[in-house]
Amino acid sequence: MSSTMDSTPGGGPALQLTGVTKSFGSVSALEHVDFTAYRGEIHAIVGDNGAGKSTMVKIVTGIHRADGGEILVNGESLGLRRTAADAVDHGIAVVYQDLALVECLDISTNLALGNLPRKFGVLLDRRRMEREASDVLTSLKVRVGDVRTPVGLLSGGQRQIVAIARAVRMDKPIILLDEPTAALGVQESFKVGTIIDELRDAGQAVICVSHDLEFVFTHADRITVLRLGRSVGTRKTSEVTRDEIIGMITGAVTAA
Ligand SMILES: Nc1ncnc2c1ncn2[C@@H]1O[C@H](COP(=O)(O)OP(=O)(O)OP(=O)(O)O)[C@@H](O)[C@H]1O
Ligand SMILES: [Mg+2]
Repeated sequence: MSSTMDSTPGGGPALQLTGVTKSFGSVSALEHVDFTAYRGEIHAIVGDNGAGKSTMVKIVTGIHRADGGEILVNGESLGLRRTAADAVDHGIAVVYQDLALVECLDISTNLALGNLPRKFGVLLDRRRMEREASDVLTSLKVRVGDVRTPVGLLSGGQRQIVAIARAVRMDKPIILLDEPTAALGVQESFKVGTIIDELRDAGQAVICVSHDLEFVFTHADRITVLRLGRSVGTRKTSEVTRDEIIGMITGAVTAA
């Protein structure tokens, strides 16, 4: 977290990264990144293409292993040698930029992946799965048609909504969304904004990577800027202008 932020919000830190470093061969994707996300806040991560945003998300969830530094959830170190399943156990849900849905499976199965309802402990309870899928989509006021539709037949925007619904359904205290509105139209982006506002209001820590500064300034409480693998700084949205953030993204502003 930037040294300019000294107020700790009531929710307390949910997720912290300290000095996180990651290289892919000769490419330095992250260099000593510090970051703190609080409960009951939406925290946006912004930065140009290749700044390291998705790498940061994947290190938190255990898809990538950091070369150094520490990740803490509720003050407890996760350790660097862990798997994506550990992240779920630690209360982290994620929507990846590339969505990670299974195209040949239908909407209801994708929503339940990793937690399929069973009958008698073994058989897939398809009716329950479909009912739960309809319920979660209805509660999010999302319309993507029949829950038996294979995800491969959906539009990019519909897939994105299904991926977000899947993460929301997991009901974890920390939710990371990597470019949740990238494929969405105006109305659907608005819907995603409403969904994350509700998660924040329910006390969850919402971390949202986005290129959409309008979306960021409408919904985020805090903004962290990454540039070339370094964290340039974190600002409260209420205390920063869009031009200042653009300056931090492009390098016109170098202050931490
Ligand atoms: N699996 C990988 N193997 C090799 N290099 C990678 C890998 N993943 C990311 N990189 C590199 O690390 C750097 C950061 O990439 P990352 O995907 O984190 O950027 P990003 O900020 O998410 O960009 P975008 O806005 O385009 O999604 C880039 O130079 C990228 O080429
Ligand atoms: Mg990315």
